[in-house]
Amino acid sequence: MENKVVVLSGGTGGIGFVCAKYFQENGYKVVIMDLQSERLESLRNEEMYPYACDLTNVENINLVVDQIVKEHGKIDSLIQVAGLMQSKDSFQIDEKSWDLMFDVNAKGTFFLAKAVFEKSMKNTGGSIVNFSSAAAIRGFIGSMASPHYGASKAAIISLTQQLACEWGKYGVRMNAVVPGGVMTEAMKKLEFDLSALENIPLQRLSVPQDIANVVYFLASDKSSMITGQSIVVDGGANCIGQ
Ligand SMILES: NC(=O)c1ccc[n+]([C@@H]2O[C@H](COP(=O)([O-])OP(=O)(O)OC[C@H]3O[C@@H](n4cnc5c(N)ncnc54)[C@H](O)[C@@H]3O)[C@@H](O)[C@H]2O)c1
Repeated sequence: MENKVVVLSGGTGGIGFVCAKYFQENGYKVVIMDLQSERLESLRNEEMYPYACDLTNVENINLVVDQIVKEHGKIDSLIQVAGLMQSKDSFQIDEKSWDLMFDVNAKGTFFLAKAVFEKSMKNTGGSIVNFSSAAAIRGFIGSMASPHYGASKAAIISLTQQLACEWGKYGVRMNAVVPGGVMTEAMKKLEFDLSALENIPLQRLSVPQDIANVVYFLASDKSSMITGQSIVVDGGANCIGQ
């Protein structure tokens, strides 16, 4: 894996950093794109390569991807962990919060994939893993019930299918993970209702490593015949009809 380059958006976050460490332990060169922060800069101590990027700005995405390809030669895998999570009901959502949600989750995911495809993977092939959410495939009552969040994450499932169809002939695979609740700081802020655990067959929330295991599989050649798929990782919660 010595020469393999993985780029993770949102790689300073709860799930993103665990994914980044897992790729690093397996010999990848790890490049992180995230909003400017002290946390991003501290990644240099972890022997990772940090790049500040705001995914709501397409020009910024293109400049940063140009810089990454120039400095690291190519991108073998792109893991799009970056996302905005909110718990707001329809009465709390105005036009501005709707647009921000879609700018980060749907538009940012599309234009980052497009930049990486055009500037590297179109010539070299590669694997892209997107982050959807259980909120894209079922409704929630109470915490996590946020129409603009669910709709933006459903868009990711759709664009995963579409781009897999378009880019397969270039040797580029695209899949998505669809996590249920994962215990991260961002999730704790949403005040997850613990009684919901009763409706999870495996009786627990995921930990970030549960998601990293699936992401790594989808990025690696072990999944070489899988593309356009969205893999649910939620302890079986989506198969309960109550
Ligand atoms: N935690 C859960 O329960 C859960 C469940 C389902 C899906 N997800 C998805 O998993 C992903 C990671 O979740 P997490 O719990 O680690 O959250 P997190 O908030 O810790 O991580 C999200 C990361 O995205 C980055 N980000 C946000 N806006 C950005 C922007 N405009 N430009 C660049 N980067 C930006 C943040 O800086 C952060 O590092 C998200 O896409 C989330 O929607 C999480």
